[in-house]
This record gives sequence, C-alpha cells and structure tokens, in this order.
Amino acid sequence: MKTLLVVYQSRSAKTAAMAEAVARGARRALEQAEALTEVELVLKRAPEAGPEDVLAADALILGTPENFGYMSGLMKDFLERVFYPCEGRIEGRPWALFVGAGQDGRGAVSSVERIVTGLRLRRRHEPIIALGELTPEIVGRCEELGATFAAGLAAGVL
Ligand SMILES: Cc1cc2nc3c(=O)[nH]c(=O)nc-3n(C[C@H](O)[C@H](O)[C@H](O)COP(=O)(O)O)c2cc1C
Repeated sequence: MKTLLVVYQSRSAKTAAMAEAVARGARRALEQAEALTEVELVLKRAPEAGPEDVLAADALILGTPENFGYMSGLMKDFLERVFYPCEGRIEGRPWALFVGAGQDGRGAVSSVERIVTGLRLRRRHEPIIALGELTPEIVGRCEELGATFAAGLAAGVL
C-alpha cells in the first residue's frame, strides 16, 4: 500500500478547487489503473495535517494561495510543524506544488521550494500557478498532476 498526501490551504476557495481537481484526477487514475500496488489518497487542509501524515506519505502534493508575495500563513505553519520531525526521514520522496494567486504566484513557489529543499524531496512536476479566475485549462492540469502521481505510485515508477 502506498499513500499520496495532498495538503492545501485556501481562504476564498480557488486553491481548494485546485486541490479537489488534483484529488479527482488521482481517483480517476486509480479507478482505471490495473496496478499491483494499492494507493490511498489522503486530502487534508494544512491545519489538519501534521508530521505523522508526511512521514506516512510516499508522495506529497502541496497547494497554497500566494499572500503578500509568500505562501499562506497556514501553509507556513504546517511546514514549520513538520520540518524538524521529518528532516532526514523523507529524503528522495516525490513532491509537487500548486498555487492559487492573483497576478503573480512566484513568491509562493519560491518560499515553499526553499523549505522543501531542506527536506530533500524530489520535485517531480513543474509548479502549477493559477492566476485570476480558475480556468478549465488549469483545472485540467491539476487533474493531470493528481493522475500522474497516483498512477506513478500505483505502477511503482514515481
Ligand atoms: C491578504 C492577501 C494577499 C494577497 N497577496 C497576493 C500576492 O502577493 N500575489 C498574488 O498574486 N496574489 C495575491 N493575493 C490574491 C490571492 O492569491 C488569490 O485571490 C488566490 O486565489 C487566493 O486563493 P484562495 O481562493 O484559495 O484563498 C492576495 C490575497 C489576499 C487576500
């Protein structure tokens, strides 16, 4: 059994819709996969997630809004809570990021990447940044991200 953990934060629903799309893509891929390995999908908001979830996960997808040129406060709180309990214990595991932003998003990406670099995870997907209104194109990319991770874990190739 493998575990795919998606941890996100959202205040006004856009990043939550992206997280739902990631989860939907993952579930669809798992329904279709004739996989040897079972994959459990765990979807949690940042305040509800902790080090035990990260330690139990074989892959991690993070989602945050960009606020004031940085990740959201609750995503930072999550990373502060998990960093030291997980440091040195999850090296090499795949991860990816999606960001709900107004007109930029790069500050959220770089702030999360700086911290995750210290955990020595392996980035397996370009960050997805949604600017302005959430478009079907971005929703599709989020679904594809979830599907890629879920299918990769199921097939043992991620
Ligand atoms: C307090 C605050 C600060 C923000 N700062 C930024 C910013 O620095 N850069 C940006 O592109 N968008 C910024 N935005 C816009 C949000 O990133 C955008 O509305 C995003 O979709 C919110 O995600 P959510 O709907 O998941 O809460 C800010 C919004 C708020 C409320």
